[in-house]
Amino acid sequence: MDDLSAAAKAYLLRILPSLGGVLTDLAARDQQLFELRLTRQFGNLYDGLEPLYGQRDDFEVFLGRLVTALAERYRDRPEALKTLDLTRELSPDWFQREGMIGYVAYAERFAGTLAGVGERLDYLKDLGVTYLHLMSVLRTREGENDGGYAVSDYLAVQPALGTMDDLEQLCTALRGSGVSLCLDLVLNHCADTHAWAEAAKEGDARYRDFFYTYTDRALPDRFEGTLPEVFPDFAPGNFTFVPEMGRWVWTTFNAYQWDLNYTNPEVFLEVANILLTLANRGVEVFRLDAVAFMWKRLGTDSQNQLEVHMLLQALRACSKIVAPAVVHKAEAIVSPAELVHYFGLGRHFGKVSNLAYHNSLMVQFWGALASRDTRLMTHVLRGFPPTPPGTAWATYMRCHDDIGWAVTDEDAAAVGLGGAAHRSFLSDYYAGLFPGSHAVGEVFQYNPATNDRRISGTFASLAGLEQAQRHGDSYGTEMSVERILLGFALMLGFGGVPLLYMGDELGLLNDYSFADDPDTRDDNRWLHRPYMDWTVAAERFREGTLPARLFAGVKHLIEVRRATPQLHTGYQLEVLDVHPQLLAYVRPHPLGRLLAVYNFSEQTQGLSVHALGAHAFREATDRLTGQQVVPRDGLLELAPYARLWLV
Ligand code: GLC
Repeated sequence: MDDLSAAAKAYLLRILPSLGGVLTDLAARDQQLFELRLTRQFGNLYDGLEPLYGQRDDFEVFLGRLVTALAERYRDRPEALKTLDLTRELSPDWFQREGMIGYVAYAERFAGTLAGVGERLDYLKDLGVTYLHLMSVLRTREGENDGGYAVSDYLAVQPALGTMDDLEQLCTALRGSGVSLCLDLVLNHCADTHAWAEAAKEGDARYRDFFYTYTDRALPDRFEGTLPEVFPDFAPGNFTFVPEMGRWVWTTFNAYQWDLNYTNPEVFLEVANILLTLANRGVEVFRLDAVAFMWKRLGTDSQNQLEVHMLLQALRACSKIVAPAVVHKAEAIVSPAELVHYFGLGRHFGKVSNLAYHNSLMVQFWGALASRDTRLMTHVLRGFPPTPPGTAWATYMRCHDDIGWAVTDEDAAAVGLGGAAHRSFLSDYYAGLFPGSHAVGEVFQYNPATNDRRISGTFASLAGLEQAQRHGDSYGTEMSVERILLGFALMLGFGGVPLLYMGDELGLLNDYSFADDPDTRDDNRWLHRPYMDWTVAAERFREGTLPARLFAGVKHLIEVRRATPQLHTGYQLEVLDVHPQLLAYVRPHPLGRLLAVYNFSEQTQGLSVHALGAHAFREATDRLTGQQVVPRDGLLELAPYARLWLV
């Protein structure tokens, strides 16, 4: 308790006695463990919440209720999970290890039901997966639901997938096979059909206060002055008039997704309870959705506000007290400068989330691929500070969302590019409009006001495979395969937790059937949310086929990664500025550094080893081929789209 501030300590001392009643049935050692964890984390909880709610008369009562809820969830936590907690506390880097391999899928599109997912475990194990993010698992509203991100009940499973008990069983089965289940916790908003929203519509004051509602447009109009639009195309504006209430409701995303009001501590309490209840079912990783938007401030874009980091720190402390096995992943698709705050900087250092999406790496991958030029990528990646201990990037090249060209004007200018022109080029390129483009993709959310255009399409289609196959172009097919494997090599070799997106390992192409369904036709992100094609998956065993080649290529990368300790995320990375078509970085490690080099062009490139400065070498082993690499006349030759992991 010594490192608690005097104020925090005083609160804790007043709260502790009231917990006896909740924990009495637990063994003395279990009670002690809870108190130790609570004491250890109370400062982080208090520091997160006090600035937000400390001015309220009922702050102490609120804190007491929160801690009681934590004690209750701890009391309910199954023994097997309590053991997992201890295991993870003994090896807190479990999710940072080189053997960590994530896979991301829509549960229904992957395997029909939750039980079906369990039956596909062999496929995941074959690939080497240790972390499975299933989407659209919790119950959503009927009809349109933003691909699962409009949740109507956080403690129920989509009826078509199964029940909560099925979820628990799946978690147990996965855990038994060394796979951690990740679920979305959509905590910025809920569906307009959630019980909270229904109660608000009926005039219940408690629940109306769960949302931001306005009787007229005065405040909404003032907010709109500085708010961007996330879905300008199918959901323009940030407020929706709800006739049942006669009020405007804050809806950042779709009209049916109501933003939750975190200035109300009751919302925090509910969400913490939900998270821990799901954790007690066996969910190990929470993908905290759209967190950047959780706090609003007039005169700003209402994203990345300081209060968001406080809320996330407090939520993280709740997990560490009740379910320390649990890991939090922040989904904040924001600019590089804002992104690093989701690990926690300054007084939040390392306390906000364990994982955050490296959106920049993904954007820069596609950017460098289109321009055959790595200078912007190198510049941007060199600008990232090291990640705090106990945190890691989630690396990915595709996901269920569109690609937005998050390139700042400043970064573009630093390498002699115009920001707007470059972003426009990238959209043209991936929409297949730019002469010579290999990509087949579609524009998502064209915003005429900003000329912003995002892109939809699968990894394979954006990398050129769809076009090459259409034209029976064998050279194009070859190059596409190389581009895809380049992306996987970067994702797996960067030194983050890699997240493979379902179907990419088999080269699944765009799925145009979304246009036939009224619930999906307006949202072309469904282009890259195909159903798993198990016939194609079976082809991975037929040598010579494309799926076999891709699957084997990805699997090989995974196997090498697992045996490359330099890829433990705990070691930092230094990006080198050595060549305009190559990306190069070093990961220093006590067992010898790893030098990774990637060729982003379809030409052979030569790298002068002298350019590597202190990292120059005479001989190295490429982990990916097992071959000795000896530069000739000081020049290292890289084949088109080559990737080298040199030790
Ligand atoms: C996240 C999801 C995206 C969704 C949005 C709103 O960005 O990834 O699919 O539309 O949040 O929930």
